[in-house]
Amino acid sequence: MEKRGTFGSKLAIVLTTAGSAVGLGNIWRFPFMTGQNGGAAFILIYLGCVFLLGIPGMISEFIVGRHSQSNAARAYGNLGYKNGRLIGYLGILTSTIILGFYAVVAGWCLQYLYASIAGHLNGDTTYIVEYFKSFSSDPIRPCLWGVGFVVITHFVVAQGVEKGIERASKLLMPLLMIILIILVIASCLLPGAGKGIDFLLKPDFSKVSGSVFLEALGQAFFSLSLGTACLCTYASYFKKETNLLKSATQIALLDSGIAIMAGLMIFPAAFSVGVQPDSGPSLIFITLPNVFRQAFESMPIVGFIISILFYALLVFAALTSTISMHEIGTAFFHEELHWARSKAAWILTIVCATITIFCSLSVGAYSNLQLFGMPLMDFCDFLTAQIMLPAGAFFTSILLGWFVEQRLLINEFTNNGALKATFFKAYLFSVKFIVPLCILLIFLHQFNLI
Ligand code: PHE
Repeated sequence: MEKRGTFGSKLAIVLTTAGSAVGLGNIWRFPFMTGQNGGAAFILIYLGCVFLLGIPGMISEFIVGRHSQSNAARAYGNLGYKNGRLIGYLGILTSTIILGFYAVVAGWCLQYLYASIAGHLNGDTTYIVEYFKSFSSDPIRPCLWGVGFVVITHFVVAQGVEKGIERASKLLMPLLMIILIILVIASCLLPGAGKGIDFLLKPDFSKVSGSVFLEALGQAFFSLSLGTACLCTYASYFKKETNLLKSATQIALLDSGIAIMAGLMIFPAAFSVGVQPDSGPSLIFITLPNVFRQAFESMPIVGFIISILFYALLVFAALTSTISMHEIGTAFFHEELHWARSKAAWILTIVCATITIFCSLSVGAYSNLQLFGMPLMDFCDFLTAQIMLPAGAFFTSILLGWFVEQRLLINEFTNNGALKATFFKAYLFSVKFIVPLCILLIFLHQFNLI
């Protein structure tokens, strides 16, 4: 049998897994959610969710993946419960659908990167709004950019674990951090930026309601790539010596740190030109091009460079995430059906690209492409982020907390006794009670049952 890949070093493990976690969820979704839900108060609740529920959830997926060192379906089936395999299948399906619609927005980012370089984003507010409308309602262009993004992802994944995934993350993650630091500094130096910084750092608890907690929890799970078998697949490439608790904590810190920095990049600039940061999903395609133009009116060349850097940042962040979503299905087809890696990757690419085309059309030229009264794209987002992803995390917790032998968990947690088990009890308590209960609450609240 061919030798299975592993990530080469500790740094590679953190960068690849953080690459999966850091994505449009941090740089696009987190800022607008923060804008809509009360700024710093939302961030505090979000951080609470990451540490109380996110880290235990991550460790669980790491344990499943590293224990069996195989694709998600086999890994979940290898814990002593055959039906566990179903959770693996659920994860593979979830990440395939997420990749399908995520690539639509990633494709828009790629198109905006091109537009910034070509100087097509220069114009007043009406022009920028019209530009977005005419691009997104075109039947062909957004589909091509979205499919292009899936194909780029394909070529990285087809190269394999070390040569493709690890190498891409080692290049893209440092670049991403450098660009982010430059943009945060540029934004915080603008006149009047202080109001934006205050908004991010001074909590206003008057906006906090039950639904803010739920939004924060959903955002934490999506941002950490939890519940999609993605972390489990990546952990199957970890080494036996990898400290799972430490890795989960480092990745969660990095992911949250980058999300907060994305806020520090967007809010000071937005407040500096008097734009409200609560515009929702169109924030990065309409609000920000406007902000860049106004903020750097006297220095258009700086505005031009900032805009290129910003869209490059989004493309890099999205790419390291789409790679991880693609790898889940590719590893499954490759190992379970014994297809060559490249064939496995192509089949997945074709499936995802098809979803991308339909999702893209549903929010553009063919708005009648609907399911349950929602455009197909929104439906896929709702189905995965609000139902399938929490379900994956819920069943993982139940399986590990209540069914799998504790010996197995403690052995993985402590690397067969090489590490101290100090936090094991806290982990187990969270996985048994806190994680499933909180997810259950979201579910019930979502369908207005509580
Ligand atoms: N965590 C990624 C982000 O924040 C999205 C993602 C979800 C990646 C699920 C992989 C699996 O954008």
